[in-house]
Amino acid sequence: MTSAELPAPYGEGAAPSTPAREATAPAPAPAETKPAGRIRIHHLQQAKDQGRHFAMLTAYDQYAAQVFDEAGIELLLIGDSAANNVLGHATTLPITLDEMILFSRAVSRATTRALVVADLPFGSYEVSPQQAVESSVRLLKEGLVHAVKMEGGADYADTVRALVRAGIPVMAHIGFTPQSEHALGGYRVQGRGEALQRIVDDAVALADAGAFCVLMEMVPAETANAVDAAVRVPTIGIGAGPGTTGQVLVWQDMAGLRGGRQAKFVKQYADVRSVLSNAARAYAEDVRAGTFPGPEHTF
Ligand code: KIV
Repeated sequence: MTSAELPAPYGEGAAPSTPAREATAPAPAPAETKPAGRIRIHHLQQAKDQGRHFAMLTAYDQYAAQVFDEAGIELLLIGDSAANNVLGHATTLPITLDEMILFSRAVSRATTRALVVADLPFGSYEVSPQQAVESSVRLLKEGLVHAVKMEGGADYADTVRALVRAGIPVMAHIGFTPQSEHALGGYRVQGRGEALQRIVDDAVALADAGAFCVLMEMVPAETANAVDAAVRVPTIGIGAGPGTTGQVLVWQDMAGLRGGRQAKFVKQYADVRSVLSNAARAYAEDVRAGTFPGPEHTF
């Protein structure tokens, strides 16, 4: 779904970007690049109902969020993958709710259009629905996000219900759930063969509980397609094939900032690592040669 294909101005209820004008005043020129409103969860539902796709990327800081928002990415995710992709941890487990709030604030403040979703980090929701509500309230109140994402299957349906009752939109995350990587025995495809039905049951239970969207990570396309057919709400895939309503990638994977081996499901759209490396080397050479700063950079 490109920005041009989104309902203009994203259907009923979109906040006007300018005050109402007198009937006689000339109509403003149509804003071609600045959409009139925020993507809402009902726009994602419309996309599924109308057979359109949408894109989601992770973002953890102001400038990446701004670039992706301006590029028309419909959803930005402050993933707990900030643990591995920003903070240098080996897994997503160590990141704290306070750290998630810090990243969330930066991303939320930099966007005008994308729906901003933050992960409930490991340890911030498993104890009880009340703990999940308290943590999510902090993500919305202090992190300024619009929705939360929570890992877990049908066992978490009550938690989804509690969040929805509190007015908090929830994206369910099933299939491979990185916070459980030790329990799952590492990064492994989930929902193969007979396990397909369990993934479908998880999705149905979470959607019935009120999740506005079901994200699936590392499941066979056949499983993702079965989930997409079983639930009315939109689905998002990462390593789940082309049959979901939306797709998500970690931005550093998508843009080629992270080095090393990439997962099979990653498509790299740029080589930002080389661009940055070349820029840093050229800068250092200039400094060492005494050619930077030049007169034009000097007061
Ligand atoms: O934290 C994250 O980046 C995620 C995506 C991989 C979906 O959960």
